[in-house]
Amino acid sequence: MIFLNKLIDFRVMALSDISNLMAGLGKLFKPYKGAFPEFRSLPSKGVSRDELLSILRKMASEEDKSWKNGKVSGAVYNGSDDLVSLYEEVFSIYPLANPLHPDVWPSLVKLESEVVAMCANMLHGDGNVRGSITVGGTESILLAMKTYRDYYRHKKGIIEPEIIIPKSAHAAFLKAAEYFNIRVKIVDLDDKFRVDVEKVKNTITKNTIAIIGSAPNFPYGTIDPIKELAEVAMDHGISMHVDAALGGFILPFARKLGYDIPQFDFDVEGVTSINLDTHKYGYAPKGSSVILYRDPELFSYQVYAIGDWTGGIYFTPTTLGSKPGFTIAATWAVMLHLGEEGYMKITKEILETGKYIINEIKKISELKILGDPLWIIAISSDSINPYVIMDYMAQRGWHLIGLINPPGFHIALTYRHTLPGVKESFINDLRESIKDAIEKGQPTTGMAPIYGATAFLPKDQLDLILKYVIDWLYNPWE
Ligand SMILES: Cc1ncc(COP(=O)(O)O)c(C=O)c1O
Repeated sequence: MIFLNKLIDFRVMALSDISNLMAGLGKLFKPYKGAFPEFRSLPSKGVSRDELLSILRKMASEEDKSWKNGKVSGAVYNGSDDLVSLYEEVFSIYPLANPLHPDVWPSLVKLESEVVAMCANMLHGDGNVRGSITVGGTESILLAMKTYRDYYRHKKGIIEPEIIIPKSAHAAFLKAAEYFNIRVKIVDLDDKFRVDVEKVKNTITKNTIAIIGSAPNFPYGTIDPIKELAEVAMDHGISMHVDAALGGFILPFARKLGYDIPQFDFDVEGVTSINLDTHKYGYAPKGSSVILYRDPELFSYQVYAIGDWTGGIYFTPTTLGSKPGFTIAATWAVMLHLGEEGYMKITKEILETGKYIINEIKKISELKILGDPLWIIAISSDSINPYVIMDYMAQRGWHLIGLINPPGFHIALTYRHTLPGVKESFINDLRESIKDAIEKGQPTTGMAPIYGATAFLPKDQLDLILKYVIDWLYNPWE
């Protein structure tokens, strides 16, 4: 209620707009209201396994439809029966394993270090590379930024650290800065949607600890000029982190397939750390990413260790204490099961799907592609509100990602989009959605008004709308 009152008091939105918005969001995010029993206190007697499993099966089977038919951007990067059954079997072997206790589960030490070594090897790292499996790209990025903050405080006495990120860098860098009290300098992109290196150079101060580049970035799928950025970092004696969350398991194979891929990894002198997401194009189950450092000393600043804690000697390489060992084992199993041959095959199919979609979009006069992407394709339009096109795509079952400034949307192609008929239906639905946007205008429900508002509402008011929606989302009584 508090946020709702503020929204109305501050005249951010009219009550009718808010109820339209919430009706749309209700359908999207709370579709099971009234359809299943609701549990808000612990039942006095346990509910039968059959009933519980039936509830879960019904909800999951609804939700499986949208990603299985290839209508979701990113999210499920593989989802083949072969890999899903491999996860299930690994889970049945390791349901309880916890890497916090390496004495009880030393196998996890072996599996994690082999995943780290395989990733380092893929990215031209040598025997000095150290790193860990984290629970996701965000945790890998948070840890790298914390590492640099502590390293430069210790080595150079920097107490007001700054990082330089491209405007296209993932929100996880902004989150890291907020969590760890690091100032962020955001640098604009050039006309190819890659960070402007001259502007990065001019942004460096005596407090800069690291430059960030993406290979590729989330919004546009374009690869920042990593080599040039790393040179700037070296000239100033600072670090260079590459966010290869999306590219770590695509770019090495794309290069082997003959695509012209610029240098982006430890091959580039000056790149000091890289994150790559095993749970994206590495095709491991969710809860798995890898952070790598060029040298063991840097890695030591990531690790938390306390030798004299009342509870005994305690150390953790990552943010969490206890965590699932299953994801480590499953990541190891998936990487070895696919091998280079498996990754090459899927990469080839994804990139060929990308080529088809890019070529077809170029034939649609109302649309334009932002940058020069390979498989994460950002689309905008000079003649039609792209958010309206996105809403009509949503009505056709597509879950695309809205982009702000410039307005647009993207699709991150995965193995799901390589399945028969999916790419053709994407283009067909895009053409139909454009027709709807021209003929019918903005639909009554959808995301267009919210995305549209981002162009003119001040940040504090946008934050207020988000806070209201998030409060509603996590309110179990609503
Ligand atoms: C380039 C990039 N970096 C970081 C992240 C964050 O990863 P996660 O959602 O696994 O935390 C993403 C997620 O899409 C990403 O695309």
